[in-house]
Amino acid sequence: MFQINDNYQKLPGSYLFSTIAKKVAAFSEANPDKQIIRLGIGDVTQPIAPAIIEAMHRAVDEMGNAETFHGYAPDLGYEFLRKAIADNDYKARGCDISPDEIFVSDGAKSDSGNIQEIFSVDNRIAVCDPVYPVYVDSNVMAGRTGTYDAQTGMWSNVIYMPCTRENGFVPEFPKETPDMIYLCLPNNPTGTTITKAQLQEWVDYANKVGAVIIYDGAYEAYISETDVAHSIYECEGAKTCAIELKSFSKNAGFTGVRLGYTVVPKELKCGEVSLHGMWARRHGTKFNGAPYIIQRAGEAVYSDAGKAQLMEQIAYYMRNAATIKSGLQESGFEVYGGVNAPYIWLKTPEAMTSWEFFDYLLEKANVVGTPGSGFGPSGEGYFRLTAFGSYENTVAALERIKSI
Ligand code: MLT
Repeated sequence: MFQINDNYQKLPGSYLFSTIAKKVAAFSEANPDKQIIRLGIGDVTQPIAPAIIEAMHRAVDEMGNAETFHGYAPDLGYEFLRKAIADNDYKARGCDISPDEIFVSDGAKSDSGNIQEIFSVDNRIAVCDPVYPVYVDSNVMAGRTGTYDAQTGMWSNVIYMPCTRENGFVPEFPKETPDMIYLCLPNNPTGTTITKAQLQEWVDYANKVGAVIIYDGAYEAYISETDVAHSIYECEGAKTCAIELKSFSKNAGFTGVRLGYTVVPKELKCGEVSLHGMWARRHGTKFNGAPYIIQRAGEAVYSDAGKAQLMEQIAYYMRNAATIKSGLQESGFEVYGGVNAPYIWLKTPEAMTSWEFFDYLLEKANVVGTPGSGFGPSGEGYFRLTAFGSYENTVAALERIKSI
């Protein structure tokens, strides 16, 4: 008789955003006349920029011609895209990352879930609390997290680093020594971040204790303050302790297009074993590459026209962030984030739990957000709103919230 991976049985409930989608669908069915505004999942709403669409059209035409047709992509991704990434995201910032340290993928969600595969199940992970749920859930599936305590919402073998208003949402070095440290900066869900000097301390710490940092930089394009690092490789010594995950979803609107990349520096080793070699083996075995058309779209992100158009798109979303933040502040809410990230993190009023506030907002204002407790126990009493809606919907949502 076959056996299943029992670790899946340990996962409490469904994936956070699936739970929310189900709740909203039920509300919508019961209240068909209500116009719901969705500021829950961080999904973009603006169309793909024209320079990128043109590049995709050209690539589609190439695929219809025997001379220019492309089959399987190279294992690591096409050289034209990896070179554009290396030049623009790294060389331009003084980071020494070569194209062959870049692995193109179908998005940072998959990579952030898959990367744990190249590490021992005996490794102890440390996560910020609250945290993007994929990091913990994928480690639960692998059997690395111990047992779940429904009372505390914590796993016995996970090191939690609380990020709350009390510590300015800056994770502190844990008392127990972790083997793998997940950092998402600017942060999902709190929308806050740390300075480059603070990040350097994390790099120094990881090198000292022999930990690896899995650094998720999905929201890097939203950084507006000058003392914040755009890549962990801006920090000295990061190439011996950090893997960086990047996404095209939030900077270029690719949530439905799917493209991302992971950097595994060749200097990153466990003893004599190169993690680059391991990830290359995994990539080659389990992945057949992002589509040619999409990789050409990714290349266009780095064209002059693409960059100019995307700067406008990011400014559009950040105007939403400012609108949400100031609107909530005017209504007396305690609000964080929204300066270097497209997320607003607010304290729920009148000691409501995160889910109570979710229901309250849905029923009274027909606005969907994300309960902070869905991201971890320290998210309880907080709530996330995304700036990825349309400007009109954002303004309308704020008007509704102000009037309840
Ligand atoms: C979120 O809402 O946290 C993000 O959309 C999740 C993701 O990027 O997968």
